[in-house]
Amino acid sequence: MNDVCNKIPRHIAIIMDGNGTWALKRGLPRNMGHRKGTQTLINTLKYCQQIGIEYLTVFAFSTENWSRPKEEVDYLMKLPEQFLEKYHTEMIENGVRLRVIGRRDNLDIKLQEKIIQVEKETEANTNINFTLAFNYGGKDEIVQATKKIIVDVIDKKIGINDVDEKMFGEYLYTKDIPPVDLMIRTSNQIRISNFMLWQIAYSELFFTNTLWPAFRRKDLNEALEAYANRTRRFGGIK
Ligand code: FPP
Repeated sequence: MNDVCNKIPRHIAIIMDGNGTWALKRGLPRNMGHRKGTQTLINTLKYCQQIGIEYLTVFAFSTENWSRPKEEVDYLMKLPEQFLEKYHTEMIENGVRLRVIGRRDNLDIKLQEKIIQVEKETEANTNINFTLAFNYGGKDEIVQATKKIIVDVIDKKIGINDVDEKMFGEYLYTKDIPPVDLMIRTSNQIRISNFMLWQIAYSELFFTNTLWPAFRRKDLNEALEAYANRTRRFGGIK
């Protein structure tokens, strides 16, 4: 890591794409790709923690993923509970703070309870902020925020002229989380797919051909190196 340490992003977001392709290339069912991808996720979280990344946010299930075959949706729906069951002690020990962003109302009640439990257990942790975007959609997040703002205006908790970018951000799932500095997408797909639309306004984007289950430290280092060589201008000039 010595070569890429000088400019490190505070917040990395990852679209973990290519699980299905990875599995099919090996003659395995798609769900085996999701299983392997879960292992990659835990390794990536550990590595990010080691190198001092403060925030890691990953896209685990989108509001559009419900349209996949039932067998795959069922498998993906079980993953977070298994993941939290298996790793929550390790997360507590390693100082990982977990947040889950996305719609909860149509998730299994046991999963909702598990999320609340692990969020509570880890809320004082400060080593790394790990956020799972699950049943998440960027447009949906903006719509939900807008509705809450309208209710607060009607209830006269806020005035219409109080609404600015800063206040709008406070109505989003990510109200406690800084904007994304580096967005990575695997599997050679050059699109955003409704992920963190508000939060990536000025992110640096990095796309790699590597399929998510095969994503390793060297791939993250490559992204970090690219990031370190970018000039961020935020609309200004340097
Ligand atoms: C996209 O790849 C990936 C997903 C829809 C699921 C991502 C889930 C994980 C990486 C597992 C970790 C999740 C949790 C909750 C711990 P794809 O299957 O669409 O890939 P393809 O484009 O090759 O078909």
